[in-house]
Amino acid sequence: MEIFSRHGLIGEFRLLHVMAAVVWMGLLYFFNFIQTPGYAEMDAPARNNAFDKVTWRALWWFRWGSVATWVTGLIILGIGSTGDVKIYDGAFFKSASGMVFATAFLFAFIMLYNVWMVIWRAQQVVIANARTVQGGGEANPDAPKSARAGAMASRQNTIFSFAVFMGMVGTSFFFAGGDHWASEVAGGKRAVWWILMIAIAVVLEMNALGKFGTEVGKPNTKIYDTHQYAIYAATGLAVVIYLLAEILLRR
Ligand code: HEM
Repeated sequence: MEIFSRHGLIGEFRLLHVMAAVVWMGLLYFFNFIQTPGYAEMDAPARNNAFDKVTWRALWWFRWGSVATWVTGLIILGIGSTGDVKIYDGAFFKSASGMVFATAFLFAFIMLYNVWMVIWRAQQVVIANARTVQGGGEANPDAPKSARAGAMASRQNTIFSFAVFMGMVGTSFFFAGGDHWASEVAGGKRAVWWILMIAIAVVLEMNALGKFGTEVGKPNTKIYDTHQYAIYAATGLAVVIYLLAEILLRR
């Protein structure tokens, strides 16, 4: 039966991959677009209770959604690069669709780092503080700093996510097939693409980690100050990547 073949397995793991990505990205958007502005309007006791009861649970699904997205993505890559299937071979990564996929992969790697090493660590401090205050204890003076660090990394993940969706979905659709995109991008153009993509990824991530300052309202941190700005930046990044693909990855 087709579903038990290697091609079928790729389909099944794509389904699981998209479901895991929905959990991860759905909660990322919930935190950014709903929780943060909503909690800002709540009074402190209600907010502390919500951190304890809602955010704590949501963070479990968020963290493990990120791992499930990665594991299922790696399985698709594994099945698709071996045996009789061989979609993701050396030639694929020199094609326009393979290069945009690999760019999405790079951004998704930084996003995974942000989930576990920045957002989760920051949220543990914020939630421990909410629980202490709820129990009548002293507030942790470092909690606002942690909240800002977590918020910046979380908004940066939102900013990367639109380009990741475009790259992932676009692998088999927008950037594949037809006579518009190069099936083998010339070496020089590949080098320019990777220099630009790595520079964009590194500068944005350093900015998110506060290397250029964390104060609210500065030109470099404005994209993290409201979820609307993060959405504009995410759209801008996806458009820039698409336009660079038009310049560098066409036939
Ligand atoms: C934020 C993280 C990610 C999101 C939101 C995401 C989302 C998606 C979506 C929506 C698709 C399209 C499925 C389809 O058209 O059938 C896809 C495809 C795919 N993803 Fe991801 N993904 C993410 C991370 C990853 C990672 C980390 C990997 C690898 C380790 C990966 C590997 C793949 C592969 C191999 C495909 C199939 C590409 C193709 O041949 O069309 N993804 N992903």
